[in-house]
Amino acid sequence: MQKPNFEEARTTDKRSYETKKFALEEKYQNYFKGKTYFLKTYGCQMNEHDSENIEAILENLGFQKIENYEQADLILLNTCSIRENAHNKAFGMLGRCKHLKEKKKDLMIGLCGCMAQEEVVVEKVLAHYPWLNFVVGTHNFYEIPKLLVRSLKEGLQVEVYSRERDLVEGMPTHRAHSYKAYVNIIYGCDKFCTYCIVPFTRGRQRSRTKEAILEEIQNLIKDGYKEVVLLGQNVNAYGKDLYDDYGFGELLEDVSLLNIPRIRFVTSHPWDFTDEMIDLIAKYPNIMPSIHLPVQSGSNRILKRMGRRYTKESYLHLVTKLKEKIPHLALSTDIIVGFPGETEEDFQETLSLVDTCQFDNAFTFIYSQRIGTAATKLKGQVDEKIKEERLQRLNEKVNGYFLQNNQRLVGQNLKVLVEGRSMKQKDAYFGYTETNKLVNFTGENIEVGEIVSVKIEEAKTWSLDGRKSEDFKASR
Ligand code: SAH
Ligand code: SF4
Ligand code: F3S
Repeated sequence: MQKPNFEEARTTDKRSYETKKFALEEKYQNYFKGKTYFLKTYGCQMNEHDSENIEAILENLGFQKIENYEQADLILLNTCSIRENAHNKAFGMLGRCKHLKEKKKDLMIGLCGCMAQEEVVVEKVLAHYPWLNFVVGTHNFYEIPKLLVRSLKEGLQVEVYSRERDLVEGMPTHRAHSYKAYVNIIYGCDKFCTYCIVPFTRGRQRSRTKEAILEEIQNLIKDGYKEVVLLGQNVNAYGKDLYDDYGFGELLEDVSLLNIPRIRFVTSHPWDFTDEMIDLIAKYPNIMPSIHLPVQSGSNRILKRMGRRYTKESYLHLVTKLKEKIPHLALSTDIIVGFPGETEEDFQETLSLVDTCQFDNAFTFIYSQRIGTAATKLKGQVDEKIKEERLQRLNEKVNGYFLQNNQRLVGQNLKVLVEGRSMKQKDAYFGYTETNKLVNFTGENIEVGEIVSVKIEEAKTWSLDGRKSEDFKASR
């Protein structure tokens, strides 16, 4: 048994690591032929992409995917630790699994993802859920076949490494979408923002080699993919741990030159955004004019306590440069309310920053205390009622700007990558604009995977409605 240890996860020393090639041992191929699995994914795109790898590994073991967990032979939870409610959801699901397990003794159940990296979670599992088959961490989920098979004889397997291991390339991937693909460029995070658990659950920053990334994207292009989303907790830090003279800007340019129609990237940290990166995004039409730039707070006092390494002024300066240089830019952000010590004046500064930036989208959160992070030691925890009331006021403000920005698009022809049939509207399709806005639209001769021009007829807060048009000079 290898349990996680936060003290070890906290150390900032750099380790040297090697790149290994994934191989599924011959003896595991089709080991579970005829069995079914249900995989539930919580959390961010990083977890969604890990799940794409896990699904492919399970399918190589012979499992078949099903959507009803009550009928599955294996239930696997790929969990998230970012806020308390993510924990509650996963434990709620484990509770339902417990009832199923009582009726179905040979049901296999596993837990992986960020929660598996937490000491408190593993202790709780050992005390209350000893009938699980395995708990495996984010650094070694490719070991699921070995752990699952071993658990059949030996019971619960806990295999969680507190610190990152070697990079593993060549994992199989069952991609969730046919035209849009996630590509990891950098794992982990070195920033240690005082509220955040990610550096503990995902380890120190490690970039993949540029050769591995470019090769993966070349293969995606051959397979007909139209869009790649470059993934990392902090994509602008790409390369810093690996190269002296090759960073995110150079990588963006090399990916752009491969000629895939659409390139996106999440998440950018304001501290690592350089002028060179802005110029490259502006220069290449296949780098989408859509940037997710979490601000977290508009108060310098709170930003300092959060350990964010920028000020309100430097954030606004960056936003001004981005908007000046990148025409049609859509800007989105993350904001936390109720961070320890946040006063009404601090919160007012956040509202005023929202008025200045007029974001196209924003994910707003109530501060959630995470065991092990530095912010738990800060004085001035904000009352729950005040946090909720601030969240509501903030949401009203940000939602107003989403609608206002969308209303400006009514009457315009926009390029939309068609992703599928609309779930809400009969005979309609859905897709995303270059600025990452969801569009539901109707029309004739529409093929999924195509980029079409859509005339926007109606704006809503979170989406647009329109009709396919024949205007090939469509705007962004
Ligand atoms: N790497 C990205 C975001 C990672 S987590 C970045 O640095 O911007 C996504 C978002 O969750 C964060 O931007 C933050 O707004 C929110 N978040 C992280 N920890 C949180 C906590 N303890 N309580 C509430 N929200 C949190
Ligand atoms: Fe968390 Fe900060 Fe790293 Fe983002 S940059 S993952 S908020 S520690
Ligand atoms: Fe959650 Fe882990 Fe992502 S904590 S937000 S799944 S990196």
